[in-house]
Amino acid sequence: MTLDLKDFQPVLLRNQGKPEARSLQAYLEQGGYQALRKALFEMSEDDIIQEVMASGLRGRGGAGFPTGLKWSFVPRESVRPKYIVVNFDEGEPGTFKDRDIVRFDPHLVIEGTLIAARAVLSEESFIYVRAEYYAEYQILKKAVEEAYAQGYLGKNILGSHFRHEMHVFLGAGAYICGEETALLESLEGKQGQPRLRPPYPAVAGLYSCPTIVNNVETLANVPFIIQHGSQWFRQYGTEQSPGTKIFSVSGSVKRPGNYEFPMGSLTLRQLLEEVAGGPLEGRKWIAAFPGGLSAPILTPDEWDIPLDFESLAQAKTMLGSGAVIALDDSMPVVTYARRMIQFFAHESCGKCTPCREGTPWLLQILQKLERGEGTRHDLELLQRVTHGIRGQTLCPLGDSAAAVLQSFMNKFPEAFERLVQPTTVATS
Ligand SMILES: Cc1cc2nc3c(=O)[nH]c(=O)nc-3n(C[C@H](O)[C@H](O)[C@H](O)COP(=O)(O)O)c2cc1C
Ligand code: SF4
Repeated sequence: MTLDLKDFQPVLLRNQGKPEARSLQAYLEQGGYQALRKALFEMSEDDIIQEVMASGLRGRGGAGFPTGLKWSFVPRESVRPKYIVVNFDEGEPGTFKDRDIVRFDPHLVIEGTLIAARAVLSEESFIYVRAEYYAEYQILKKAVEEAYAQGYLGKNILGSHFRHEMHVFLGAGAYICGEETALLESLEGKQGQPRLRPPYPAVAGLYSCPTIVNNVETLANVPFIIQHGSQWFRQYGTEQSPGTKIFSVSGSVKRPGNYEFPMGSLTLRQLLEEVAGGPLEGRKWIAAFPGGLSAPILTPDEWDIPLDFESLAQAKTMLGSGAVIALDDSMPVVTYARRMIQFFAHESCGKCTPCREGTPWLLQILQKLERGEGTRHDLELLQRVTHGIRGQTLCPLGDSAAAVLQSFMNKFPEAFERLVQPTTVATS
């Protein structure tokens, strides 16, 4: 089946490749800040939350939690300050979509954040930027300055009674700081380690105050929803996964990059073959991560699956951040698995025992197998340790490491068996 790409115009990536579009002037010429105007003068807080709920927008940071529902949890009557935190940590390996949004449409993120702030009565927000994204940090800072200068930030925004201060914060350079509660710790100046929940950030987040943490792509959708309405948004995507999604495609493909499509409108195979151009010359695909390194792999016989939250969950994996990484036959399967575990072992924050102790243990066993020194007992141990981690960790990092390794072992049992020494039998 050949995918007809002609009819679809990107929404979030409408300015991809056009740095000249990032100025406030260019944004206004594209109808920018009209949604904020509507949210300020024509809608109540409840109206905004209801519209976002009706759109069915789900978080694009990985978990897919309904955005409007999250906003509705904020106790607006509380006298404590309420904060919006924009998660621009983008640490999930293979993910580089938020970078393109910020690079070419920084005011879209600022406007989405302001609408979220208006909905939950927040007067202050923080954009937490991945430390490696220094160029995008500067783009955001400039855009925020422009917004202050033209009255879109600060006191009496657009002549209303609404005020809002926005800060751009350079992150701490750790993968775990993308996890929302570790991010809040980091913003507070502490070591980035996840918090025990409940309470959830919407009730007690930054400085124990009600806080909404949303991903960049999630917030970039909000101005379109407010301006054109929830039904407009629902023209794209499926019932349970409305809207478009940006897929970051990397690994063994001829045309890596960010591609935006309505959710569920194409399969993983179509994305990799027709959009990303197939595997690298002379190579054969063996598997793909459909949603970042934290998503269990799918082998090519499983790739006729629509890319949306529900289809991938049914296949026991996840859409995650939408980062698709294609693996080919240039490296042994166990080496892919070892490199994946190496990442998680290195990034484990050490707060809970199963992840802190378990991920380096898995790494050691995989390295032993790669050296050709593994035994059957090591294969059993891999299984036991992954089961000991799953469901026992404070945050999803350890759980993902174990689940992804299990997907490698279940889908390529022979690749692991091959590396095992025959069991030595005592002869006397
Ligand atoms: C280990 C780990 C890393 C994460 N990294 C990111 C990240 O870089 N960016 C992001 O938006 N969400 C990340 N998340 C998800 C956040 O915890 C949170 O769910 C998200 O920011 C909520 O926003 P959303 O509802 O708009 O998706 C991560 C989660 C975990 C467990
Ligand atoms: S699962 Fe890992 S990263 Fe998450 S809190 Fe526990 S030790 Fe830290």
